[in-house]
Amino acid sequence: MERLPGFRDFYPEPLPHKDVWSADARQYIFGKWRDAARRYGFREYDGPPLEPLELFTTKSGEEIVGQLYNFKDKGDREIALRPEMTPTLARMVAAHERNYKKPIKWFAMPQLFRYERQQKGRLREHFQFNADIFGEQDASADAELIALLIDTLRSFGLTAEDFVIRLSSRNAWNDYFTNRGGKAGQEYDFFQIIDKLERTPPEESQKKLTALRFSLDDVNAFINSGMPTTELASIIANLTARGMGDFVKVDYKVIRGLAYYTGPVFEAFDRKGEFRAIAGGGRYDNLVKLISGGKVNLPALGFGMGDVVLLELLKARNLLPQFDGGMDVFVLIEDETLRPQSLKLVQDLRSSGLVVDYTLTTTKPEKQFKRAQELKAAHTAKLDNDAYVRIRNMNTREEVVAGVNDATNHIRR
Ligand code: HAM
Repeated sequence: MERLPGFRDFYPEPLPHKDVWSADARQYIFGKWRDAARRYGFREYDGPPLEPLELFTTKSGEEIVGQLYNFKDKGDREIALRPEMTPTLARMVAAHERNYKKPIKWFAMPQLFRYERQQKGRLREHFQFNADIFGEQDASADAELIALLIDTLRSFGLTAEDFVIRLSSRNAWNDYFTNRGGKAGQEYDFFQIIDKLERTPPEESQKKLTALRFSLDDVNAFINSGMPTTELASIIANLTARGMGDFVKVDYKVIRGLAYYTGPVFEAFDRKGEFRAIAGGGRYDNLVKLISGGKVNLPALGFGMGDVVLLELLKARNLLPQFDGGMDVFVLIEDETLRPQSLKLVQDLRSSGLVVDYTLTTTKPEKQFKRAQELKAAHTAKLDNDAYVRIRNMNTREEVVAGVNDATNHIRR
């Protein structure tokens, strides 16, 4: 039986095959995401992986709707696997925002599903770090969010030489659209053309723009001017005050594909331009109102960072640590009459927080020692009798005999 295309198997390291993914690396990434979010005062939430189809069909925009995994369940409901977290989050916040002081700062690490064409950096399932802020209109919130994005990437050892945040604005593009006589109702079509400029041959973009009565030369001139709006200038000043000015640049080529964005938008890219976007986000001030049927109105902003591109980048920059089981102690049981006491020792060491293993059944001493080596155990511990334990440091080969109750202290030292 093969797994479905675009889905992944995660194995503990060392990996058995180049076609599988590292469960250790995944855990490492989750840990860094969670730590960064907590340092910025974000609280963790989660939602259901299955949602009513309708939650996504009107809110996210055509592109993502075309990639939905959707079907009828046994109760005849139209449902979809979540392709992104933002509509779920907007629904959750709208339902209970009164319980929370503003601004609400929340994060999650959902697994998301999109029926995309499989390519480098794009699979049919990925994990995505989401951080969002609700209830703050001021651009200081946009800066706070981008600072979190920068610090999250920095916590993996990436620097301003490795990545850049390309900052843009739907407001700036809206003004451009209106000032040049764009027709109401065609904004999203226009935004879609801009979003794909970098991936589309110029003649094709020109043709599409002409149909909406715009010109590619004029669009390019606007992009090349790169003049920050007041809002963007304020975000950059805020980030510069934090010592993060080197990580951002205004780039109007970014506009974001999703329909709901309203204000500043941004994407994180590797500096060399080898990979797809590492992360993307922006303001979506109307989504809560739309999803709550007008009952709740809260300004909002957020970003999503996927694990796939991030992992590719960390691998390419040699920034992933070596993963092993991290075994503190391997308890050797050479005298089976001491197995009950040895089990007690195993449990005591584990209770003190150490990572401990041993052989489940009678095993030759050499085999036990070999297993300790394979697991890269830092120590072995072997009972001499009821009262004394022989602890060996596997690195220095030093051996001490300690009282059973003192074993933890010796190992920790
Ligand atoms: P997005 O740009 O669709 O935004 O996705 C964000 C990131 O998720 C991308 O930059 C990429 O790293 C990763 N990603 C997306 N699709 C795939 C895929 N098929 N395979 C691997 N990685 C992928 C959103 O989803 C917004 N909801 C983010 C957001 C949160 N905006 C506001 N709050």
